[in-house]
Amino acid sequence: MKELLKQIKTEALFEIEQATTIGALEAVRVGYFGKKGRLTEVMGQMRHLDPAERPAFGQAVNTIKVAIEAAWTARKQNLEEAILIATLQKEQLDVTLPGLHLYQGSIHPLNQVIEEVEDLFLGMGYTVEEGPEVELDLFNFEMMNIAKDHPARDMQDSFYIDDKTLLRTQTSPVQARAMLKMKGEPLKIICPGKVYRKDDDDPSHSHQFMQIEGLVIDRDITLAHLKDTLLTMVRHLFGPEREIRLRPSYFPFTEPSMEVDVLMQKQDGTTEYIEILGAGMVHPEVLRMGGYDPQVYRGFAFGVGVERIALLKYHIDDIRHFYTNDIRFLRQFKEGVSS
Ligand code: PHE
Repeated sequence: MKELLKQIKTEALFEIEQATTIGALEAVRVGYFGKKGRLTEVMGQMRHLDPAERPAFGQAVNTIKVAIEAAWTARKQNLEEAILIATLQKEQLDVTLPGLHLYQGSIHPLNQVIEEVEDLFLGMGYTVEEGPEVELDLFNFEMMNIAKDHPARDMQDSFYIDDKTLLRTQTSPVQARAMLKMKGEPLKIICPGKVYRKDDDDPSHSHQFMQIEGLVIDRDITLAHLKDTLLTMVRHLFGPEREIRLRPSYFPFTEPSMEVDVLMQKQDGTTEYIEILGAGMVHPEVLRMGGYDPQVYRGFAFGVGVERIALLKYHIDDIRHFYTNDIRFLRQFKEGVSS
């Protein structure tokens, strides 16, 4: 009997050692401890023994049982660990592999400039107006005090659609539209939008570009209001220390008229004044045509080039970058990028 027990132990330990899967190990357990397992069977033999021999035999069987169970549990842990390691290795994540790059869109630099200007003027009580890009000659020129044979028409080479309609050459026609809409009431508006001129395209000119028009009409408007408004706008766009220069100029719809330059730093460290907008006090004739009594009302107006501002603000050398939709260019204008 003792020999048999020894043999069972040896075989059981061997089988446990040989089991390489949890399934095989489980089969070993059933083979020894199951209903018909070898140890179970041996235990069954106990009743044929002499009662005096039973305790010693029971103890011997128990010792073997404990030894086999211990080996079995250890092997099971072993196998489970090995399986876990294999799984981890198989499912390993290489965090150094390049991931999926999702690019976040950003607002076009020209729209960023427009939004900045709109923010400022909305805060000062202006409203934002719009007007059509296909405009009547009446609004684009005549109501802006530029009659049919006026030489100033040559200043803005136009795309005509027919005798009476053209692609607007400036945002100034929105002045006329706003005045008619307000029917003689004071007004404060800005109007951003596209304009078209038959200019030759070159790094600083395009046949299509954007302007923001500004118009204020009230009883006591003076040149000082205009100057302060323009300075406020320039400092909002370029920083609080920025200086501007007003130069006398000519526009048929303003009197006096001026061009406004902003002081910029050149790459070599020196500074220069660069023109960014045209402005002036609304011409009495324009007021009158718009339904305002020039004896009672005065106004100021300005028209600023959006591309101009963006070129200077972001140090861009070619206006055509704005229109080619090159994603590499546009990606540089994430929110918060500024001069
Ligand atoms: N409309 C003018 C231009 O396009 C700019 C301007 C607007 C000048 C308003 C004076 C007043 O050149």
